[in-house]
Amino acid sequence: MAPKNAAFVIAVDGPAASGKGTVASRLAKLYGYPMLDTGLLYRAVGMRLLNADGDLDDAIAAEAAARGLELAELEMPEVRTRQAGEAASRVAVHPGVRAALFDLQRDFALREPGSVIDGRDIGTVIAPEAPAKLFVTASPEVRADRRWKQLVGQGEAVTFDEILADIRKRDERDGGRASAPMTQAPDAVLLDTSEMTIEQAFDAARRIVETARARWGNPKG
Ligand code: C5P
Repeated sequence: MAPKNAAFVIAVDGPAASGKGTVASRLAKLYGYPMLDTGLLYRAVGMRLLNADGDLDDAIAAEAAARGLELAELEMPEVRTRQAGEAASRVAVHPGVRAALFDLQRDFALREPGSVIDGRDIGTVIAPEAPAKLFVTASPEVRADRRWKQLVGQGEAVTFDEILADIRKRDERDGGRASAPMTQAPDAVLLDTSEMTIEQAFDAARRIVETARARWGNPKG
């Protein structure tokens, strides 16, 4: 049971374009907690390599890129592109990259009074003791539709079918990884947003967190 003075970490995991980023940022705003989108870390590592003509499959080069990462790089618009998403999922398979990014994420998770962290392995690897864990998901078609609209809105020329293929490939790569398989933590609450509006998803997430917070504040209750 979490000691009373520990940080109230809200771990929001789930696959690409499941709505977890939107849910996480709304929760962070609601509670006034800092938020870390860990996908941006992997995206920035991927872009570092690509910008240096590096090989995404080269584990040593990828780890070096991760170790040299500066937080300002997360702000660059290029990390939000489709190319960065693809590069991220390729560098994320290297255990050295995950190890290099661990401390930064772990330090963020220990911040008091609390934080919101979104990713794939927050509830399982980065902050397994997090008192509030959500696993946000949606069908591949719904996720592809959301990601496609987002990318078109950013000015990228892509088709829905291309994005659906990306999502399926990404799920396969993210789910089949031994170092950090994208699995729901046993104590995470599943939130399927396929049939939900943003408002409904946020409302459901808020209720899950409120239940976890009440339990955290009253461990014996
Ligand atoms: O969530 P986002 O689409 O930005 O993540 C990009 C990629 O980064 C994911 O497909 C996944 O391969 C990787 N990732 C990860 N662990 C995290 C966050 C992202 O492996 N905690």
